[in-house]
Amino acid sequence: MRKSNIIVNTKISKGIINPNIYGQFSEHLGRCIYEGIFVKDEDCIPNVNGMRKDVISALKKLHIPVLRWPGGCFADTYHWKDGIGPKSNRKTIVNTNWGGETEDNSFGTHEFMELCDQLGCEAYISGNVGSGSVSELSDWIEYCNMGGISPMADLRRKNGKDTPWNVKYWGIGNEAWGGGGSMKPEFYANLARQYSTYMRNYDNSHQIYKIASGANGYDYNWTRTVCEMAGDMIDAISLHYYTFASDDWEHKGAATLFSRSEYLKTLTKTLCMDELIENHSRIIKQFSPDGKKIGLAVDEWGTWFDVEEGTKPGFLYQQNTIRDAIVAGINLNIFNNHCDTVVMANIAQMVNVLQALILTDGPRMLLTPTYHVFDMYQGHMGARQVESYAETELIGDEVSSFPNLQVSASEKDGKVLVTIVNLDDENECNAHIMLGGYKASSVVCQFVGGDASKFNTFDKPNTVEKENLDVLISDDGYSLDVILPKASVCALELE
Ligand code: AHR
Repeated sequence: MRKSNIIVNTKISKGIINPNIYGQFSEHLGRCIYEGIFVKDEDCIPNVNGMRKDVISALKKLHIPVLRWPGGCFADTYHWKDGIGPKSNRKTIVNTNWGGETEDNSFGTHEFMELCDQLGCEAYISGNVGSGSVSELSDWIEYCNMGGISPMADLRRKNGKDTPWNVKYWGIGNEAWGGGGSMKPEFYANLARQYSTYMRNYDNSHQIYKIASGANGYDYNWTRTVCEMAGDMIDAISLHYYTFASDDWEHKGAATLFSRSEYLKTLTKTLCMDELIENHSRIIKQFSPDGKKIGLAVDEWGTWFDVEEGTKPGFLYQQNTIRDAIVAGINLNIFNNHCDTVVMANIAQMVNVLQALILTDGPRMLLTPTYHVFDMYQGHMGARQVESYAETELIGDEVSSFPNLQVSASEKDGKVLVTIVNLDDENECNAHIMLGGYKASSVVCQFVGGDASKFNTFDKPNTVEKENLDVLISDDGYSLDVILPKASVCALELE
C-alpha cells in the first residue's frame, strides 16, 4: 500500500467554480437524442412529451446546469427552421456527419427547450456557421428570445410558444477548423466578428453569451488568432480535447478489456488537459480587452474509444468502465482548479455516445461509472475552490508515467468537498489529509473503483455503484485518514 499526505487549505482560493463546468452535450448523433432521450410514439417507452421518463429522472438527480445542442459537427449542417412547426411538415434531411442516417427533424428547437425545462438546465445552442448564414443564426436568436412583436416571435407563437425562452448561451459554429467549415483561424475570426454583430440582445436583463469556436487540443495559434482578432466580440472561446488510448485514430482502443499499457496511456493523455488549459488560458488572458475577461469553455471532452462490436461506426457507441470514471474525475478536478478561466465544460456526450453518463437499450437503461462521478462531484458546483495538494509518487511503465494521486477541493455552505482520484490500478493508498482553516466534525466518503475494468451491463446494471468508505477524523478535527481503493474516484464531504 502507498502512503500520501494531502493538504487542503480553505484559506487560499482561486474563486468560485462555475456550475457550468458540470455541463453536458447532446448531439444528433447515433442514439443520443433519438431513443436515448427522445422517443417517438411507436417506441412505446414511457415518456413525457417525448422525453424518456427513466433517463430524465436519472439526469435530474445530477442537477445539470447547462446542455449543449444540436452538435458538434451536426450543428454546422443543421438548419433550425427544418425543425419547427407541425411534425408532419418537417423536412427530412441526411445526417451526413454521423452514418448518413435519415433525420426527420422531429426533435427541434421546441423539443430541445422542453428537454432543458424538464432537466431544469440552461440551454446552450450551437449555431450553424459552416453551412448556414448570418441571418439564419440571427433569426434563431430572435425566434428564441424576442418577447415583443416581430416576424420570428410571431412564428414562435404560431408554433405554440407565447413567451420567449431567453436562451443565454450561443455558440458561433463548432470546430470551424474542421467539420465546421475547414477554415483558417483568420477567416473564422472575421466571420465570428460578423456573426457576433448580428447576434442581438432582445432583452437587456437577459444578455446573451457568445462562445467562439475554439482550438483542437494543442492548436495555440487558433486561440491566439481568434482572441486577437475577435476577442472584443465574444464572451468565451471553446477548447475541444478528447482522450484516446492510442495515437492511432483508426484504432483508438477498446472501451472495455483494455491492456494495462492502454490504461496508463489513457490517463497520461487525460492529464494533458491541465497543460492545455494552462497554455490556452495564458493566451486568452493576453487578449482580454479592457479588463473584460474571455472565458474558456471546454465544450467537448471525454474518452473516445472504438465503437462496440456490432454497432454502427457512425454512432460512436462505447461502453464505460472505471477507467472512464477516473478520466472524468481527473478532468473535473482540473477544471475546478482552473476555475479562474474555465467557465464551462461539456462532457461528450450525455447519453449513448462516447463517454456517456447513461446507456440505453430499447426500454432498458443503465448508469455508467461516469454518471456516479458527476453525482459525487455535485457539491463543487458554485462552490468556492480551495487550495489542495497531494504528495505523490510516479507510477506507470517506461512509456507512460504520472503521479498516483490527483485532487481538488471546494467549500460551500460550511461544507468542504474533497475529490481525490487514485490513478494507481495496482495499489491502495493510505491518505493522511491535513486541513488548514477548517475543522471537520463529521465526514461522509463515497467512491467508485477498485478495479479499472469494471462496468455495468444491461443484465448486471449495478456492478459499479457508489460505495461508502470509512474515514477516521482526528480528535482535533484537523486531519483525516482514509484508505483510497486502487483505481478509484473518492469524494469526501466534510462538515
Ligand atoms: O462528439 C463527437 C464529435 O466530436 C463532435 O460532433 C465534434 O464536434 C467532435 O469532433
